[in-house]
Amino acid sequence: MTKITKTLSTSPKPLPPSDQLGFGQHFSDHMFVATYREGQGWHQASVVPYGPISMDPGASVLHYGQALFEGMKVFRQADGKIVFFRPEFNYHRLCEGAARICLEAPPMDLFMEGLHQVISADERWIPSEPNTALYIRPTLIGTEPFLGVRPSRETMFLILLSPVGSYYSEGTKPIKIWTEETYLRAAPGGLGAVKAGANYAASLKAALEAKKRGYAQVLWLDVEHKGIEEVGTMNVFFVFDNEIVTPALNGSILSGGTRDAVIQLLKSKNLPIKERKITIEEVIEKMSKGQLKEAFGTGTAAVISPIGVLAYKGKDWVINNNENGPLSTQLFTEITSIQRGTQKDTLNWLTPLKRS
Ligand code: COI
Repeated sequence: MTKITKTLSTSPKPLPPSDQLGFGQHFSDHMFVATYREGQGWHQASVVPYGPISMDPGASVLHYGQALFEGMKVFRQADGKIVFFRPEFNYHRLCEGAARICLEAPPMDLFMEGLHQVISADERWIPSEPNTALYIRPTLIGTEPFLGVRPSRETMFLILLSPVGSYYSEGTKPIKIWTEETYLRAAPGGLGAVKAGANYAASLKAALEAKKRGYAQVLWLDVEHKGIEEVGTMNVFFVFDNEIVTPALNGSILSGGTRDAVIQLLKSKNLPIKERKITIEEVIEKMSKGQLKEAFGTGTAAVISPIGVLAYKGKDWVINNNENGPLSTQLFTEITSIQRGTQKDTLNWLTPLKRS
């Protein structure tokens, strides 16, 4: 495997108070960096003090958006054990995304070893309070300088670490969602199924406009403005009176790690979970008949985020009295308890940190 060197920071930062973390506002003392160049392979793999990176202004990421990332978490359990939540899932998704946007994915051993080494350098940054974690941001960017449009022959792989609390300012309370009928985040054949930075750039204007109207995020529809795809930066689930549904992965929906964990948990309880096409009209009809019991988003950042209000064509539909429903509460509790080690990890989701 590519050799990893380590240069430790000589000026460690004070830790932010764990009740004021928010999401993604603080970065730890170190980061992991490695470079790939065609003909040379992966090299210069190192844990270094967190700080600016240098790149040519002609780098492909700056012009043609070759950028891809992952989001994952590491937890400090009550007995002191430090565990990752499903790192292989994120590694495989990173590889699929890299292939789609023509970047080089690091080999699995470099990804895992980089992760272990940077986290052991920054172990003190892993918070332990409930609803906190150290969020991990593996990132790939195209760094070759050129202006003709083609794939970069150079990829930079970074791992950044950020201690986090709740993603939404609402905490784990239900959020207000605007059904988006103008902007699209993704289209068939596009990048929606991978975690390309471009998808998030495409989403910003709709989110901003929703915020101005008083909504926390948007419900994304497909190109026909019919099929439901995602909610904000999350996958979405609806609890109908006779089934639990989430949109089937259709090529423009991200295959979320928490989406997959929720499906596994529901199946393990023999609950009627279906991955299928869901239209906004169906959801409105169920709401009007009182057959929609709960709706929630799933994502690494927020875990489970109940939807309390869904706006569609000028009407605000209130779901479950704008309260956390029983299923979203149960799923949030189970997933976070497994992560924190207070519930048995029967589905083998946790990987312990190797200290180096
Ligand atoms: C997630 O929750 O999985 C995300 O990707 C959110 C991130 C874009 C902040």
